[in-house]
Amino acid sequence: MLKLKTIVAAVAMAISAHAAVAGEVEVLHYWTSGGEAKSVAELKKIMQAKGHVWKDFAVAGGGGDAAATVLKSRVVAGNPPAAAQIKGPAIQEWANEGVLANLDATAKAEKWDDVLPKVVADVMKYKGNYVAAPVNVHRVNWMWASSDALKKAGVKSMPKTWDEFFAAGDALKKAGLIAVAHGGQNWQDFTTFESVALGVGGAKFYNDAFVKLDPKALSSDTMKKSLETFRKVKSYTDAAAPGRDWNLATAMLIQGKAGFQLMGDWAKGEFLAAGKVPGKDFMCAAAPGTANAYTFNVDSFAMFKLKDAGAQKAQADLASSIMGKEFQEVFNLNKGSIPARTDMKMDKFDDCGKLSAKDFVATAKTGGLVPSVAHGMAIKPAAEGAIKDAVSQFWNDDKITVADAMKKIAAAGAAK
Ligand code: GAL
Repeated sequence: MLKLKTIVAAVAMAISAHAAVAGEVEVLHYWTSGGEAKSVAELKKIMQAKGHVWKDFAVAGGGGDAAATVLKSRVVAGNPPAAAQIKGPAIQEWANEGVLANLDATAKAEKWDDVLPKVVADVMKYKGNYVAAPVNVHRVNWMWASSDALKKAGVKSMPKTWDEFFAAGDALKKAGLIAVAHGGQNWQDFTTFESVALGVGGAKFYNDAFVKLDPKALSSDTMKKSLETFRKVKSYTDAAAPGRDWNLATAMLIQGKAGFQLMGDWAKGEFLAAGKVPGKDFMCAAAPGTANAYTFNVDSFAMFKLKDAGAQKAQADLASSIMGKEFQEVFNLNKGSIPARTDMKMDKFDDCGKLSAKDFVATAKTGGLVPSVAHGMAIKPAAEGAIKDAVSQFWNDDKITVADAMKKIAAAGAAK
């Protein structure tokens, strides 16, 4: 009798461990740095307040490469999470596999088409149906600076051109500081590279080369100049950069050890989480030469098809919460990004956030608004990976000539 009871209890435990609890929502994301974790905790709070059980599935690794690998194995095993942080053309690829849930009921009821910029809504849809919900718009072409470091080096203003940037870098080096805090992962290398190329060549060149993958643009003199400038940036980084996480690079600015970081505005989330004040302790400006352009990076969650009715309800509530004004404000105040909705008040946002919102709207009109390659917004994951690898090889090995790198990048682009 006792034995039977034990077996029944063990079976019950095993079942409850596997079956989704009604209203449980398992969310795969890669927001593990200080600022990121604070931001995602806001979504958890909102879902818990609606009575749902939040099952956190955080896979560390900036840029999300590790999370993407884990997600693939879970879906292949027939056990997808309720929601996952997926963005850009990868959303279309997942939808094409037939595994994503249709969010149109929530989107229609809450008028997503009316409140989202078209450039954002288009990315969230597959064949006209919403399959993902956007949480924000990140600007990637930012340059951050430590006020302490600039002061020590006698640098009076944020550089507007690459020449000014290198002059400021020389002054920082002379003052015994690290000029540029860089982390060594291929998405970080490309984050710097796409800002350099945008600054050197402008938005049209950027679009031709990295969105259309036009072989002419990829082999042009502008591409050559971009790679030369990019290599020069490297000479301002420290020897310990390879393998460093992006948030540790931001920490070097927070501690006043380094002058600049070229990074998207999730870096602002780190400064804020450390209690630093924009415009006082740290500065933001568009990367040199890119003030009239905007590389956008939209974070979003896609929902996977699930059978359990409770889980479906939780997914619909998650989609609705993500697009809710309350979440869009509090999340983005922490994360460093701006709301994806266009009908939000920006008065609680700091000057960096206000500038981002203003430039997003302005560049959408002028053609300066371009998708970030480094952050999975521009091209399909396979071509993106190949181009990133070629750029990182060039960055890491000074023996690779500019001409050879151009050939490799053009070949990677042709394999689209
Ligand atoms: C980006 C993502 C941001 C931030 C960053 C570092 O790709 O869009 O939200 O998390 O990576 O992890």
